[in-house]
Amino acid sequence: MEVIGLDIGFGYTKCTDGQRFLVFKSVYGEAAELQFREQLLSDPDEEDYLHVEIDDNAYFVGELAERQSVERFFTLDQSQFVADFTKVLALTPLSTLVARQEPVKLVAGLPISHYRRHRTELVNILKGQHPLVSIDKDGQRTDTVVRISDVKVVPQPFGTVMNLMLSDLGEVRDRRFLREKIGVIDVGFRTTDYTIADRTRYSERGSKTTDTGISRAYTAIAAKLQESSGVNVELYRLYDAVDRGSIKIHGKRYDLKLVKEQAFSQLASTIATDANRLWANDWDMDRVMITGGGGAVLAPYMSKLLKGEIMPVEPGTDVRLNNVRGYWKYGKRLWTRGAPAAAAAATASS
Ligand SMILES: Nc1ncnc2c1ncn2[C@@H]1O[C@H](COP(=O)(O)OP(=O)(O)OP(=O)(O)O)[C@@H](O)[C@H]1O
Ligand SMILES: [Mg+2]
Repeated sequence: MEVIGLDIGFGYTKCTDGQRFLVFKSVYGEAAELQFREQLLSDPDEEDYLHVEIDDNAYFVGELAERQSVERFFTLDQSQFVADFTKVLALTPLSTLVARQEPVKLVAGLPISHYRRHRTELVNILKGQHPLVSIDKDGQRTDTVVRISDVKVVPQPFGTVMNLMLSDLGEVRDRRFLREKIGVIDVGFRTTDYTIADRTRYSERGSKTTDTGISRAYTAIAAKLQESSGVNVELYRLYDAVDRGSIKIHGKRYDLKLVKEQAFSQLASTIATDANRLWANDWDMDRVMITGGGGAVLAPYMSKLLKGEIMPVEPGTDVRLNNVRGYWKYGKRLWTRGAPAAAAAATASS
């Protein structure tokens, strides 16, 4: 039996067995017949090559789809995302991390506002036996079966809270979190989730989802770029460029620093205002934690606008992985030991 944490985000899919972490862009496409498989020069990351066949359809997944698929699928619509994307985005990393037929117990998340509507659907899509073929970069085919015996769906930012509270064995590691009231702001690619863990209990009043993910800033940047270059750059092709601060289109380099600065500070101020308003009655909150990949990017802009004490990010951590780490720890707690207090509290919320 293998416990797996799976965070299928609009931007990146994150998956872990507690030891290895697979992270890839939440994009897939039709697999093309590759005539020439040699790398031109550098030795690529093995994990960049994600190629599977599910239900007789062949897919490239993640960066490979971005590079090689003629038709690519990417969405920012929640219903479409659950119905059309989760199967491919979930089974692909599972087929890499888990041995054939090994029963998988899976913890996955949904944004708070979509939790009730999509939870059962997500369980139904994932649970059961899924035969698939994985194809490596030399074209070698391997038949496998992903067998998912249990699925637990939790509201997304709970992953971050569980990650704070639990050790790798699923034990409570810092009792302070059992006594404190902590606000969590999870800025993802499309969504921002706000939640409060009040002495491990979930506060409905202090929780909500908005569509102020980092993609909103990207949309503003893309619009500016279209004005100046005439090219409509897909959002998921902007990640590296925004990070670098410039992009080359048709041989010409466009500077993005100024527009990025404006877009990020405007978005940060919207999110901070939302949080301050949502938590106006929760002035007794001990600390606020900013998480999610977008959180890492926006934290410097947000911290001076937010009320309350901000928890610093531990240096060297990839905060995109906070939720998935927490899902996995929670799975350990649920399935490899009893189901005491913290787990029961989180279950009560679901
Ligand atoms: N090391 C990194 N590599 C890539 N992106 C990063 C990194 N660190 C921060 N980011 C930012 O994180 C964003 C994605 O964050 P995250 O993975 O938390 O979103 P998501 O969970 O896919 O989205 P959502 O929660 O809306 O479904 C990227 O758009 C980028 O701005
Ligand atoms: Mg997320």
